[in-house]
Amino acid sequence: MKAPLYYAIACVERREKEGSMTEPKWIRRLRFNLSRLGLFKGHLHYYTTVASTQSEAARLASKGAEEGTLVVAGKQLEGKGRCGRRWRSDAGGLWMSLVLKPKSLTGGSHLITLLASLSVVRSLDRFSFDDVSIEWPNDVLIGVSKVAGLLSEAVFVGSELEYIVLGIGINVNNPIEGFQSDFMRNATSLRESSGSISKLDEVAYTVLGNLEGVYLEAQRHGLVKLISDVKGRTSTIGKDIVLTIGGKELHVKAVDLLPDGRLVVKGEKSDSQNILPEDIERLRRG
Ligand code: BTN
Repeated sequence: MKAPLYYAIACVERREKEGSMTEPKWIRRLRFNLSRLGLFKGHLHYYTTVASTQSEAARLASKGAEEGTLVVAGKQLEGKGRCGRRWRSDAGGLWMSLVLKPKSLTGGSHLITLLASLSVVRSLDRFSFDDVSIEWPNDVLIGVSKVAGLLSEAVFVGSELEYIVLGIGINVNNPIEGFQSDFMRNATSLRESSGSISKLDEVAYTVLGNLEGVYLEAQRHGLVKLISDVKGRTSTIGKDIVLTIGGKELHVKAVDLLPDGRLVVKGEKSDSQNILPEDIERLRRG
């Protein structure tokens, strides 16, 4: 039997109140600092534990949550990765999802993923990490190891884009032992790469600040310059890669990134092809 609506609403209200009473200090600092931003300045929902911040942000967006609504979790029990994969999200990492309602951004939600990757890369530059790059289509690397994953999920009503939920997962201070055999080859965290603990609120605030900048720039001035910046930070280009498409492996070299976010690849004996993120199940270095 379904729970009556008033019961469901009471549960949600109680959970939100409990959430704010038990908020850790870093969330209170983040809440305070976010008030300095424009578009992404408020509407922070924090959960100690949640199934997935993506699902929670989508639930809020479907109830009319404003653009900039942010869901952050201490840990996720069913973190979502690309292509239905699980994203391990232990305590100590930064797991957050943002509701976006772009008015003048055409060309697919993978472009939002690329813009968000650029924001993460620029943020890690600010924290003096070396050799930070984008692995097309949705990863951020330190050296050759994955430190962050991005996921954009768009919801349409008819042909109209209703909202996009952008998920950002960054391995900050969370343990990454066992990731390699798990689902992420060559994973790293900010703690492993720097040897010290990073402040979650500072990482979150820097990423959201950079993201707000590129998101507004994209809507005001278009994507040409930004995608060229993305290309400049994409280490996949020039590398031999193996794409999994429809369960089959394709050995190619990544040769370019187009302004619409497609990756241009070329096989030794085949013509070049332009690949969209949704065309592939997996990409690994060859
Ligand atoms: C990937 O690399 O496959 C994308 C991973 C995206 C993980 C983030 S963590 C915050 C948000 N909530 C989720 O359930 N997934 C995204």
